[in-house]
Amino acid sequence: MYCHAIPNCCTMQPQEFEVEGEAGSDLEGTSPPVSARVKFSKKQQQQKSVMSKTKQKKLAREEQERLQKSMVVKAFHAFYEAQYGERWSSLLWALHAKPRAACLSNKFADMAVFADSMESLTNLRRIQFVSVPLYDCDNRFPHPERDDKNVYTCYLLDAASVLATEALDLSPEDRVLDLCAAPGGKSVSILQHLQFPMGSLTANELSADRRRRLWKVVMDYLPEDLKQYVSVTGRDGAQWSQPDLFDKVLVDAPCSAERHLLQNDEELCKWSERRSVQCAKRQIALLNAALKNVSVGGLVVYSTCSISNLENDKVIEKALQKRKVGVEIVHRTWLIGEKTEYGWIVLPDTSSGWGPLYFCVLRRVS
Ligand SMILES: C[S@@+](CC[C@H](N)C(=O)[O-])C[C@H]1O[C@@H](n2cnc3c(N)ncnc32)[C@H](O)[C@@H]1O
Repeated sequence: MYCHAIPNCCTMQPQEFEVEGEAGSDLEGTSPPVSARVKFSKKQQQQKSVMSKTKQKKLAREEQERLQKSMVVKAFHAFYEAQYGERWSSLLWALHAKPRAACLSNKFADMAVFADSMESLTNLRRIQFVSVPLYDCDNRFPHPERDDKNVYTCYLLDAASVLATEALDLSPEDRVLDLCAAPGGKSVSILQHLQFPMGSLTANELSADRRRRLWKVVMDYLPEDLKQYVSVTGRDGAQWSQPDLFDKVLVDAPCSAERHLLQNDEELCKWSERRSVQCAKRQIALLNAALKNVSVGGLVVYSTCSISNLENDKVIEKALQKRKVGVEIVHRTWLIGEKTEYGWIVLPDTSSGWGPLYFCVLRRVS
């Protein structure tokens, strides 16, 4: 049902076959001698049967792929419809819309250069639901510019992402661990709250390729003399073991990222409930590692851009069952989004296209 309603989703529907001309048909109308004609006609017959078998196989394979895709898409919709009920169709529309980008100004750059680069934009306005200078406008934001010290003046990201870093309730002197940090948008947001040398940021990322990008992003947003206060590491976050070194830990966990899947048919075809369950196992391990390592009294924010409850509230529930340290959930109300059992979720159908972003704040108490 949704495939008919949603752009891009229709490619999952069985398509009509277009039958190509048979091999050798371009020889029609020529008149070779009879002997040659007989000989050629046999060869043509052979070619025809060989081609048609190959083609039949290709068509059968394509049809099987199409069937598989349509089964995955059906299962995808059934899974989320079971969670969201009647809301699913409007949420699905909102998820299909192109993701929005807000503009976070970088306090370490020259703000005059930032102001110049924003001058031509229509209705530039500050977003009120976060404390850092984050902007929206009626146009598309231009590519960020560098100032005279080669520092980027702003970062473009979904405004809801910034909420996850706000939830860390950061103080300038906090020692922060961003456990799953690439490509680095939330690390840049965290930096906006810190003051050096009292504060520090450790941005961790397991994937070497993504870590290279993360390193570049973090370094591009800091002047030379402050780069020493930020380190980029490449550990498996689930195995992290440096207790009491951090006041705040952000676990922006790898997840099903359904909005991204819905923008890309090939990615969507890889979706399965089983994958979401596997993601959840990894997420629980990452969250428990964060809880074990944050100092007593410190905060852990668990976040995902998934809309699956398995990867959101259920992860919190299971991590709490397995935890080895004392933890309490911190409830707070935000200006956009809605409450969930343990945390908060921003969904694009009711939040002006921002999100999805789920987050939950946990305090280590012993
Ligand atoms: C949702 S993305 C993080 C996005 C990032 N926080 C940002 O705002 O730009 C999750 C990241 O976690 C990384 N990751 C996956 N498993 C990990 C693990 N065991 N330890 C550390 N990082 C991991 C992924 O490679 C991916 O880059």
